[in-house]
Amino acid sequence: MINALRGMKDTISPTSEIYAHIIETCTKIAQNYGFSFIETPILEETALFKRSVGESSDIVGKEMYQFIDKGENDVCLRPEGTAGVVRAFIQQKFDKAGGVRRFFYHGPMFRYERPQKGRLRQFHQFGAETFGEGSVREDATIILMLKAIFESLGIGYTLEINSLGCPACMPLYKLKLVQFLETLDGLCEDCQRRKLTNPIRVLDCKNEHCKILLADAPLIVEHLCSTCKEDFATLRSILDQFNVAYVVNPKLVRGLDYYSKTAFEFVSNEIGAQSAIAGGGRYDRLVEFLDGKPTFGVGFAMGIERLMELVKMPEVKREGYYIGALCEEAKSVVYNLVIQKRETSKVLTQYEPKSLKSHLSNADKNYVKFCVCIGEDELSKGVVWVKDLESKEEKMIKLENF
Ligand code: HAM
Repeated sequence: MINALRGMKDTISPTSEIYAHIIETCTKIAQNYGFSFIETPILEETALFKRSVGESSDIVGKEMYQFIDKGENDVCLRPEGTAGVVRAFIQQKFDKAGGVRRFFYHGPMFRYERPQKGRLRQFHQFGAETFGEGSVREDATIILMLKAIFESLGIGYTLEINSLGCPACMPLYKLKLVQFLETLDGLCEDCQRRKLTNPIRVLDCKNEHCKILLADAPLIVEHLCSTCKEDFATLRSILDQFNVAYVVNPKLVRGLDYYSKTAFEFVSNEIGAQSAIAGGGRYDRLVEFLDGKPTFGVGFAMGIERLMELVKMPEVKREGYYIGALCEEAKSVVYNLVIQKRETSKVLTQYEPKSLKSHLSNADKNYVKFCVCIGEDELSKGVVWVKDLESKEEKMIKLENF
């Protein structure tokens, strides 16, 4: 027997209904906020992710589904959605055209991680990206949009925010941090490596000993330039104004290298260790890193599988018809009726004649509102037998009136 690969899952009804409900809810809200749908390829050149997500990140360093294709191209399955959207944005010359553009997307992402609860190798994201808008109000808007999505899905969360500074303040802070790291003895192997490649990643190391060593580390929020400081204050005041509860986590650095200024994560305490349900931030240099004209960027992505654990589905209402034949002679009448009725309603059927009991049980299992049956008696009188499965009322209706 061949099973799905480790860390990859089939999504089948009723779970698939939760998936569809999440996508539908997010799509509607994203459209209200002015975002339009974008679909980019799942397979991209490996260089795209090396130059955006960053060679020092775990995603690029350890987790890519990377291979050489039959044309000798170095390609990989996308580990996240932002890089592909930025590539498309530049390829369409939207950077040169200028103006503000907003996109949303959803689909599978691939990371060769150690699978565990809430951590898959193929998982799905819903994400959104805004280009060309430098105002911190857009960062706030994106957080408000996520708040609206979570409220609509009935999901509770904690929001953590931080500012990662800009080219004016981050390099100076990094120097100070590295000087501090040099004084420490006993950092874990990952941190020793990160100290050289991307020192700020040391700040969110999960190793208990490192956490103790880093308790007095200098923090970026205390080293922001005046512009970043002001923007971070504006962000916080907008969140206060709209009653969005948040905590400033000065050690929140995100696992992807492209961020500057705002960084945020939505966390749930109901789904175990893999608690991040959405993450994002500003990436004002990314378009430039990928050879585009410098363009502001800010966005987020949510992990749909993690949301699926939390979503409270709206109550399902009985809907549509189940139509079945009680005898051989009624088969074609039933078939014609099914095809006709599907022009306006959801209709389920079984092609072979069955007993009334069996049809009623199928109708019930499929959660339709009406069970309709046709047998010899109904055929001779030109009627159909209908049962309303909610009110339990039964009646005969003339075929032409049905
Ligand atoms: P990320 O934080 O790497 O950000 O991923 C976003 C979300 O995807 C996470 O918060 C989590 O819910 C989900 N996720 C990540 N890895 C897994 C996994 N192995 N299994 C299940 N769910 C997972 C990004 O991907 C950025 N592109 C977000 C962004 C968009 N920043 C700006 N624009």
